[in-house]
Amino acid sequence: MGAPATFRDEVADRFGLLPNFFCSAQAAPGLIERLWDFAKSAYLDNPLPSLFKERLFVHLSRFCAVRYCIVRHVGFLVGHGRPAGDASVQPEGVDDVIALLRRPVPDAKALDTILDGLCARTVAEPVPAPRTELEHDLFDVLTVLFLAPIGSGRAREAVRNAVGDPTLEFLLAFMAFIRAAHYWTETHSHLTYEADALALMERHPKLGELLLDPREAEQTRGTLEQMRALATLRESEERFEATVRTLQQNLQVQEAEAGELGRYRLLIDAVTDYAIYMLDPNGRIVSWNQGARRLKGFEEAEILGQHFSRFYTEEDRAAGLPARALATAVEDGKFEGEGWRTRKDGSRFWANVIIDPIRNSADELVGYAKITRDLTERHDAQLALERTREALSQSQKMEAVGQLTGGIAHDFNNLLTAIIGSLEIARRRATDASVIRLIGNALSAAERGSSLTQRMLVFARRQELNVEPVDIVALVHGMAELLQRSLGPSVRIETRFPLGLPRVNTDANQLEMALLNLAVNARDAMPQGGAVVVTARPEILSSAQGRLQPGEYVCLSLTDTGEGMDEETLARAIDPFFTTKEVGKGTGLGLPMVYGLAEHSGGQLILRSEQGRGTTAEVWLPVAKKTAAGTEANAPPQWPYTEQRRLIMVVVDDDSLVLTNMAAMLDDLGHKVFEASSARQALDILRRESGVQLVVTDLAMPGMTGLQLIQEIKDTWPNVPVILATGFAELPPGVDPRQITLAKPFLQQDLARAVEIAMTAPDARRVLSFRGTRR
Ligand SMILES: Nc1ncnc2c1ncn2[C@@H]1O[C@H](COP(=O)(O)OP(=O)(O)OP(=O)(O)O)[C@@H](O)[C@H]1O
Ligand SMILES: [Mg+2]
Repeated sequence: MGAPATFRDEVADRFGLLPNFFCSAQAAPGLIERLWDFAKSAYLDNPLPSLFKERLFVHLSRFCAVRYCIVRHVGFLVGHGRPAGDASVQPEGVDDVIALLRRPVPDAKALDTILDGLCARTVAEPVPAPRTELEHDLFDVLTVLFLAPIGSGRAREAVRNAVGDPTLEFLLAFMAFIRAAHYWTETHSHLTYEADALALMERHPKLGELLLDPREAEQTRGTLEQMRALATLRESEERFEATVRTLQQNLQVQEAEAGELGRYRLLIDAVTDYAIYMLDPNGRIVSWNQGARRLKGFEEAEILGQHFSRFYTEEDRAAGLPARALATAVEDGKFEGEGWRTRKDGSRFWANVIIDPIRNSADELVGYAKITRDLTERHDAQLALERTREALSQSQKMEAVGQLTGGIAHDFNNLLTAIIGSLEIARRRATDASVIRLIGNALSAAERGSSLTQRMLVFARRQELNVEPVDIVALVHGMAELLQRSLGPSVRIETRFPLGLPRVNTDANQLEMALLNLAVNARDAMPQGGAVVVTARPEILSSAQGRLQPGEYVCLSLTDTGEGMDEETLARAIDPFFTTKEVGKGTGLGLPMVYGLAEHSGGQLILRSEQGRGTTAEVWLPVAKKTAAGTEANAPPQWPYTEQRRLIMVVVDDDSLVLTNMAAMLDDLGHKVFEASSARQALDILRRESGVQLVVTDLAMPGMTGLQLIQEIKDTWPNVPVILATGFAELPPGVDPRQITLAKPFLQQDLARAVEIAMTAPDARRVLSFRGTRR
């Protein structure tokens, strides 16, 4: 007994005796005091009822077969010492203690019922009185908890439900002490029974037998093992069931998801207008829908595993577009674009493409979703619309510029008509050689000016055309020498014409001029020389094309091997006054003239050019209709030229310059001329002067117009022919188709011819147009 007297006194004081338990471990000073502290806090001072504690101590010690503990605490129960150090506890009868020691252990089913019962309790109660059913139930469940602390969650929950949280904590602390006491006892084999305990067993042999019988101990231990196994089995069963339940739930979820996936698959496959498929992170195809099959022509089996770049055109592949599309999808979260894609058969379609990256829950890239739509039709329609819009705005621009140009050219025309006319007369009357030369210079300059206004007028379609069936092959061959001279020796000319090319409706002279303009452009584009090919081919349009109506055409084209034009130049080449040539070298009116002629003839001018690759100008002209007799309509009339006569005539024009000039020309031809500056004045002269044989009148005049004058003359002097001189290409409605017209500006010889016709065939007035024949 090395323990300090105070400690031993304290223990004895609490228990009413000094148990041998506290006499061991003397070799470790200080330790036993701490064990005593533990005993006090978890056992003696534990607020659970003392008798309950003592009975539980005995009950649990039985399962561990710790004989000393069973005997000592049974001793406390029957009045040897104080149960749980509590002097107020009344001792139990020996039979009660025997009943406690003999209490059977429940089987698994019974334990299950007990657990359910405890769990079903709705109100937590403090620990029950001794020997009640609840105490027994609690002991059984606490046994499970005591023997198998791990895996006995259900037992713990049952106790918690029955007694409440704080009581459970006190119970657990108490059981911890019992376990420590068991451990201490088992490991101190020299521990002996106290004298009072031995005396007790002697006095109660039945109790002694029970306490010391090792078989009883073995039996209890066996049952205990079974219970422990059952408890854990029960637990694992529960866990298993729970696992099965979870698995089943998962399975249901998966099945539902699978069903959903199936439905998605069906949905995606039902979409036939969109190619919807997936790519792996490297861009290889891993799924394929009906739409993809329809759009791209590949079966699923032949395309899975292939790289999606195979749908791109070769150029796009070379430019690295497929890789860039994936990179954009990753960087921006999405790629969207349009472009040409190829089908299995090699054909192309205009595609709208969307690529979305797909990431897993860890945000790693696992692939791409790709949706492709065929927008070829929309794209084509869009292009057609743009082309139409462009053509429309181009034609509106041309129309506006045409009106402006035409207006200016018209005025210039009148001026030049007067200048040329006067110069011609002056040249004839001049005698001094140097004066004649000067007048000649002035004339050729004026004629160049006139040729310019001609171009402007043709462009503006203000120039009256002498439309007739023209044999293009003959025309080109006829001007071969002229062409060659214009192009120079360094340019080779080649002509290719099919046999039996139909004639076209146009103005032969203007067409020659147009060809010359094109040839000169070709020459200018080939400063080092080259080749020019002139060809023509028949074309039949079944539907309108650009501004061409359906019908038969001949496409006359002139191709050079020159420097060509960049896009900007090509777009502006036909604009009037647009030139890239040096100041003074180009007027920018060559192509507009060709354009005007083609349009006015019912055809079209088409330019094709590429920088460094030459230019092709196509002049489309409508084929001339054959008449029943087999000859084309609008055949040029053949007029007999007869001797000139001296006539009396009236000339009418509101422009005094033109009037004087015309009068001078006619006077020069030997006629007697009365000048009138208005229609009214002309009528006055007609009334006043008998014997007027011919009237030459302007069309547009203030007050009474040329047409009204013609009507008046027809009514009053039906035998007096009238020549209508006009600068306008299109005659206003109401003009008699048989009216003889003379297009301004005209030369003296044109005027002479018109007079000739008017006088020699007065009854057979035919539609005739005269125009300046000089270039
Ligand atoms: N065959 C061609 N090759 C390259 N460029 C051309 C060709 N034809 C025309 N062009 C370009 O179109 C522009 C306009 O041509 P256009 O015939 O209307 O006027 P121009 O030739 O400049 O002047 P002009 O005809 O009065 O001499 C030219 O200045 C040139 O830039
Ligand atoms: Mg030109």
